[in-house]
Amino acid sequence: MIRQKLIAGNWKMHKTTTQAIQFANDFIAPGINQFKKTEVCVCVPFVHLHALENIFTQNDIKLGAQNVYFEQEGAFTGEISCGMLADAGVKYVIVGHSERRALFAETDDMINKKLRAAFNSALNPILCVGENLEQRGSGAAQETVGRQLEAALRDIGITGVQRLTVAYEPIWAIGTGRTAIPNQVREMCAFIRSKIEALYDGRAAAKTRCIYGGSVNPVTARDIVGNSDVDGALVGGASLKPDVFFNIVKAVNSQD
Ligand code: PGA
Repeated sequence: MIRQKLIAGNWKMHKTTTQAIQFANDFIAPGINQFKKTEVCVCVPFVHLHALENIFTQNDIKLGAQNVYFEQEGAFTGEISCGMLADAGVKYVIVGHSERRALFAETDDMINKKLRAAFNSALNPILCVGENLEQRGSGAAQETVGRQLEAALRDIGITGVQRLTVAYEPIWAIGTGRTAIPNQVREMCAFIRSKIEALYDGRAAAKTRCIYGGSVNPVTARDIVGNSDVDGALVGGASLKPDVFFNIVKAVNSQD
């Protein structure tokens, strides 16, 4: 099964709308839409969605969000629903990023509800999983990721899972400049796919995309995404600079 590679940027809490539009122009100018083999997405702060929708759509860049609430509407001050995001042109939404788990007390149960809400809408969720340094050191990385997957995917039907992207993001690699080595990523992506096969079946596992995130740059992107088990990358810091992000897409797209 050939899964199209996905390179998704995660801007986190960066850029004003003026800076976001400038980024879009600079990213597109050298010809980003020549890279047909690779799907490109940028997950931006909510306030930039409207300003970026047209320019992204015209250049085949998918608009992404970094979070969503699971209720459809109601008295939930400060929250945004899947329907609102889909209406704003959003195609992908990050769910369960480790920063949201750690800093905003997101639980496995909330992540499960967010995934369900996304699958009931037109959004494609990017589910983040990953172990911390201590868990990696004590040999509990797979067990941790396995537990996160089981909890996140509880009662999610097989049709939903086939639209899922799992981002393996070891916490010790996020924003640290310490990228996981290609073998660690390949092993974990293969494990994630085997876990999905166990929870669902081989067909669902073959369709699920598994990407890597954690200090990805143009050089590490080529090595890590070069493996057939690894379907792309979720890129934080390096997605803020248009030329660097462009070079990541180029490096991944130029692989066979
Ligand atoms: P980083 O962030 O590329 O800056 O390490 C990745 C992420 O948090 O998604």
